Formats: sequence, structure tokens, C-alpha cells
Amino acid sequence: MVKIGVLISGGGTNLQALIDSIEAGKIKGKISLIISNKEKAYGLVRGRAAGIESIFIDPKKFKNSEDYNARLIESLREWDIDLVVLAGYLKILSKDFIKAFRNRIINIHPALIPSFCGNGYYGERVHKEVLDYGCKVTGASVHFVDEGTDTGPIILQKTIEVEDSDTVESLQRKVLEIEHEILPEAVKLFCENRIILNGRKTKINWE
Ligand code: GRF
Repeated sequence: MVKIGVLISGGGTNLQALIDSIEAGKIKGKISLIISNKEKAYGLVRGRAAGIESIFIDPKKFKNSEDYNARLIESLREWDIDLVVLAGYLKILSKDFIKAFRNRIINIHPALIPSFCGNGYYGERVHKEVLDYGCKVTGASVHFVDEGTDTGPIILQKTIEVEDSDTVESLQRKVLEIEHEILPEAVKLFCENRIILNGRKTKINWE
């Protein structure tokens, strides 16, 4: 059984989608630990309601990002975590963190990487720029995390039409629905060892 650690910073709807998929028996994995860098993150409430160890680790208690990440690694190792899922986690991971969990960190991004991603591209800004650019499709991407920002090998992507009537809010809602589909799907594929990594590309063994 793959032991999953989830890092969050906010509402945790992606975390909830993962919890629901696991509770429905769709994923051969178990969320053993949830860590938030924000004390008030509603995702912590969701984790506790599901009976999952859900902790707030305060970045302010650490003199720098490296020390904070070292503490994250320590907690994840204490819980023997095999796979780290970033579900709306907004802090940058250190090089040591990436090394400690090489090719075992998955992130969900609310756009079609390599578009509208990288430093500063999160939340409503992503959807505003998609609308301002006049895109006809957008979507979400699940990818492995490497030393860059949103640059790791892509695992799954799914698109939706951008309609003339769409606003930032309506687009965010539509994309979030896709996120809630493809993040659990990607975690399921990982737990079933069906993601074959080949350099910066992945091949999915669907059968
Ligand atoms: C989502 O849009 C996700 O793509 C991005 O952060 C947002 C978090 O949503 N990484 P939630 O906290 O999972 O509801």
C-alpha cells in the first residue's frame, strides 16, 4: 500500500477529491499525513474529518526555506511516505526535498503546461491570463516535480473549451472540476506503478 503525504496551503478541494477517491476504493494508496504551511487552511479541517494526521508546520518558526524543507522531509520520513502530492501547496520545495523524493512528488497545475505556468502563476491569475490571451481551450496538468517551477515530466492533462461567456470565476470552477478528476487518476496510476518515466517524458501503461 503506497503511503501518501499531501502538502496543502488552502481550501483543499484537490485533497478532498483524493480522500474521496481513496475512500471509494479507487486508489491502492493511503494518505498517512497532511502538512499545511498555513494554520487556517481548510484542507486541515478536511483531513481531520477524514481521520488523517493533519498538521500545520509554521514557516515562521524556521530561519530559512532550507530549514523549513528539512523539517518537512523529517516529518514525511517519520511517516514513511512513498509519494508526496502537492495539492494547492504554494511554497517552493528545496533542492534537498526534490532529491529526497526524486520522481515521487506530484503537482496539479490549473493550466496546460508549458503555458501559463512558472513563478507567480497560481490561482485566479492563471485563468485571467488565459482569458486575456483569448485562448479557446484551457485545462489542468498533473506532473512530477523537479527543481524547476511546473517544469517536471507531465503525467496527465485534460482540456476544456473556453466559452465567450466565461469569466475568471467560471473558468476556475470548470478547471477545478478537471483537477479533481486527473489528480486522483494520476495518483492511482502511480500507486499501480503504471507511469513509466523516460527522461522528461512519461508513458502510461493503461492496460
Ligand atoms: C488549485 O487551483 C490548484 O490547481 C492549485 O491551487 C488550487 C488549490 O485548490 N495548485 P485546492 O486548495 O485544492 O482547493
